[in-house]
Amino acid sequence: MHTAAINFDKFRQLQDEACHARIREARERIGREAVLLCHHYQRADVYQYADLTGDSLKLSRLASQADSRYIVFCGVHFMAEVADILSKPEQVAILPDLAAGCSMADMANLAKVERCWRELGEVLEVDECVTPVTYINSAADLKAFCGARGGIVCTSSNAGTIADWAFSRREKILFFPDQHLGRWTGHRMGIPLDEMVVWDPDLEMGGLSTEQIRRARILLWKGHCSVHQMFQPAHILRFRNQHPDGLVIAHPECSFEVCRQSDFVGSTEHIVRTIREAAPNTRWLVGTELNLVNRLAEEVRPQGKIVQFMAPTVCMCSTMQRIDPQHLAWTLENLAEGRVVNRISVPEHEKELARLALERMLAVS
Ligand code: 13P
Ligand code: SF4
Repeated sequence: MHTAAINFDKFRQLQDEACHARIREARERIGREAVLLCHHYQRADVYQYADLTGDSLKLSRLASQADSRYIVFCGVHFMAEVADILSKPEQVAILPDLAAGCSMADMANLAKVERCWRELGEVLEVDECVTPVTYINSAADLKAFCGARGGIVCTSSNAGTIADWAFSRREKILFFPDQHLGRWTGHRMGIPLDEMVVWDPDLEMGGLSTEQIRRARILLWKGHCSVHQMFQPAHILRFRNQHPDGLVIAHPECSFEVCRQSDFVGSTEHIVRTIREAAPNTRWLVGTELNLVNRLAEEVRPQGKIVQFMAPTVCMCSTMQRIDPQHLAWTLENLAEGRVVNRISVPEHEKELARLALERMLAVS
């Protein structure tokens, strides 16, 4: 039997240097029993320990293919849930700080989505004509909701393909929780803006008339990312005035106008790849989280590429930031002693249906 877990309080006050020594030592002891998956937004002092990195889609695939007993997920809660859902029953998904959530994911919950479905049912034959599509930035029970209703999950890198799949089955999509990704995806498919309406979950019938609901091709949940909403068209305009040859790339969680005025729009992995593969001596304005942008700027500087952050203010994902060396050292040291802390375990009844929606996505994309 293992002794009780080491309390985090002992790690809270640890200086970073001491944490790094303990992380290295613990990793040595754990060896191949654990794999460390890191999202691109992780801070540099944690990212340096990644075995594998990626955007949400790539990390979901990596989690489903992992063969180590422990998957330590340096990212946010929904990502560790996906790792738990897609990994084998004997594998264990761990999130070093349970407070690392996603504020956008929290903008939709099962009670509100079920109410929306019921209210849509007053106007439409909802099960026959609406495919529910949840962005991967959502809780497991919402993925299960989609799994149970012929729906699917999407990420920022496959949303177009997933929307094609959804429309091939039913005439409308209910897209949650990110209205911006949904709108941009619809626009790229040629759907007019007035056929995409915003469903406000805090209003009766989403604040829409029967006519608006009947006419809509995509019902966009009123949710957004607080980090990506900081980027504004004015930032792009100023950059273009100063650097007419510069290029602009944005994440599709940015507002419609920011995406429309960008030269490229794509997932974090797409942003990294595009700038890595760009011609030397090019200049880039990037609309996504600051840790990614700073790291990329450093990496491509030797090729004469200049990478600038889109907003004039610092906007980091404060929840991603919560995974710090202290929490990583605490998690790994416990693991080295055979103790699991911060296990993410999706209840079985949700897991099965959520897996169905995720596997549909992996098969389609
Ligand atoms: P990616 O799938 O592009 O990595 O996006 C995840 C995310 O949360 C962006 O804010
Ligand atoms: Fe969620 Fe936004 Fe952070 Fe991405 S950047 S994890 S969408 S809060």
